[in-house]
Amino acid sequence: MATAFGGPEVLEVIDEQLPAPGVGQVVVEVRAVGVNPIDYKRYSGAFGDDPSTLPQRLGLEASGVVTAVGPDAVGPQGPITVGDEVVVYAPGVYASAVVVPAAAVLPKPAGLVWEHAAGILATGLTAWDALERIRLQEGETVVIHGAAGGVGLLAVQLAKARGATVIGTAREVNHDYLRSLGATPVVYGHGLVERVREAAPGGVDAAIDTVGTDEAADVSLELVPEKQRVVTIAGFERAARDGFVAIGGPDPESARIRESARIPLLELADAGTVVTVIAKTFPLAEAARAHTELAASHASGKFILIP
Ligand SMILES: NC(=O)c1ccc[n+]([C@@H]2O[C@H](COP(=O)([O-])OP(=O)(O)OC[C@H]3O[C@@H](n4cnc5c(N)ncnc54)[C@H](OP(=O)(O)O)[C@@H]3O)[C@@H](O)[C@H]2O)c1
Repeated sequence: MATAFGGPEVLEVIDEQLPAPGVGQVVVEVRAVGVNPIDYKRYSGAFGDDPSTLPQRLGLEASGVVTAVGPDAVGPQGPITVGDEVVVYAPGVYASAVVVPAAAVLPKPAGLVWEHAAGILATGLTAWDALERIRLQEGETVVIHGAAGGVGLLAVQLAKARGATVIGTAREVNHDYLRSLGATPVVYGHGLVERVREAAPGGVDAAIDTVGTDEAADVSLELVPEKQRVVTIAGFERAARDGFVAIGGPDPESARIRESARIPLLELADAGTVVTVIAKTFPLAEAARAHTELAASHASGKFILIP
């Protein structure tokens, strides 16, 4: 838990008695937890530093086994029973066991190991939301900034599954992997707009920015004819200033898209159409180290915590 606002040093392991599940709740013994930048941003003070919000239990996504079921615990795909292997998409899952609403519990696809099941939803639903907002169609060309990141890799795969041509910006070390996913990689930095033009001689229809830099905004706005087909998940100030789309936060449209995409996304993952790349796993007690490494330049893919 985050016991103060600051850097990863404010994280502590705290022993708590788990309450019995109430109406519509289940207990899940956690097997793996997905790590996301929002986890460390929340206690960094970036979203305010009201001390009444402390301590904060972190996390958004996990996989595990149901060990207890409260009355009327029905998930999005029907009744939940003890022993079910599940994916949880709910706040506060940095724990060895959690009490969560049944509505946030989905069956774990049989084809996914715990780590992959824990790491697909937060990044995958964000990518799905972004693709919906830019209305990407088969045969179109999209630029994805930060294509080798957690969200970027899912956006690349989902865009390819829609039949789009994908240009992805990334460090050179990640280019071979992006090529293996069917994307055309280009290095970000000075001269990016020319490199993208060369990679997409027929033009660019839409852009997804997962990094929030001025470069990503400038290049997207220069290449995409329609501002409403440029979406960012991280560059909120530029989006407000320049009139392109920003998603995330308390946005009812994002909530609707992401909720309806949970099951189709897990089905695509089960079929192997999209895969979660695991960059590194850490023991849950070393979440602070995971956050320090995730905030720095790191290997492509998701970080996972194991309780
Ligand atoms: N709004 C939302 O709903 C929402 C949801 C999820 C995440 N987010 C935010 O989106 C951002 C990305 O999340 P993530 O999980 O994908 O993080 P991540 O896994 O850390 O990926 C970020 C990627 O950005 C790339 N990168 C770094 N500097 C770059 C630059 N100057 N230009 C282009 N790419 C650069 C890195 O790739 P290389 O190794 O190739 O440099 C890195 O892999 C975070 O700020 C996160 O908080 C927002």
